[in-house]
Amino acid sequence: MRVVVVGGTGLIRSPLVDILRDHGHDARSGFPGTGVDAFTGEGLDELLGGADVVVDVSNAPVWDADTAMRYVTRSTGHLTEAAVRAGVRHLVILSSLGVDNLPDKGCCRAKLAQERAVRDSGLPYSVVRTGLYFEFVELITGLAVRDGQARLPSTRVRPIAASDTALALAAVVENDPLQGVRRIAGPEVHRLDRLGEITLAGRSGLAVVTDETAGPFAGIPADVLTGDPGVETWATRYEDWCKERPLRCGRARTDTDSSLSHVV
Ligand SMILES: NC(=O)c1ccc[n+]([C@@H]2O[C@H](COP(=O)([O-])OP(=O)(O)OC[C@H]3O[C@@H](n4cnc5c(N)ncnc54)[C@H](OP(=O)(O)O)[C@@H]3O)[C@@H](O)[C@H]2O)c1
Repeated sequence: MRVVVVGGTGLIRSPLVDILRDHGHDARSGFPGTGVDAFTGEGLDELLGGADVVVDVSNAPVWDADTAMRYVTRSTGHLTEAAVRAGVRHLVILSSLGVDNLPDKGCCRAKLAQERAVRDSGLPYSVVRTGLYFEFVELITGLAVRDGQARLPSTRVRPIAASDTALALAAVVENDPLQGVRRIAGPEVHRLDRLGEITLAGRSGLAVVTDETAGPFAGIPADVLTGDPGVETWATRYEDWCKERPLRCGRARTDTDSSLSHVV
């Protein structure tokens, strides 16, 4: 089948397109670098022509509440209209685990608005709510570092490898529209401060300090970001993922060079 993936150099588009092609599908993608802009609608009609399934893995460039809402409102509007014109038979979007439990957070309001717009579009659809990506945990840890300390709250999360998210999305693409939500996460529930320790293990000179007021995940009640026991889990463990990425997570590192400088 022909599958169109909207999204650029982010974490999901490239592995998803690779998986779909490996499975024999005609997978193509569009993003601003290829002249396709979901925010303005430019290039969407050409890209979606002949598509059976469309997957939106794009994201707002900045995630303050207003920008996020403006992005999803305009991009989802353009995408659903173009999908209807093209006769697409399945629209798939990515959302976030716990998004329905955090109505006060602007980014969650935006994701819920996106889900609503897709549901109301009349198109057959699937929403995949996924836990935080491992790559995002790594980024959060790096951004939390000041003066040799990463201050992180003990908020419980259930992160997932972006590569597992891409596999789960491919399975959704290959099946009938859910007309609802699938929730996916990694195999383990972790405290965010503990994930910070795993991330920075082996990087001498950096310590994690538990700070229940630090960062955007502070104060989020237990179990909001972990999903209920029925959440579908994928296999890759954060610690194993870090070990396979020694230059980024640092676990196998023996020195303190600055290879984490992109996130620290
Ligand atoms: N990050 C997480 O932990 C997480 C967790 C749960 C759910 N999600 C969801 O997963 C999805 C992808 O998130 P992400 O973190 O992978 O995002 P990301 O890495 O920021 O990638 C977003 C992509 O969107 C593309 N994009 C931006 N503006 C666009 C436009 N106008 N038209 C078309 N494409 C555009 C960007 O293209 P360029 O590369 O050209 O800039 C970028 O590659 C989002 O729906 C997000 O809500 C993320």
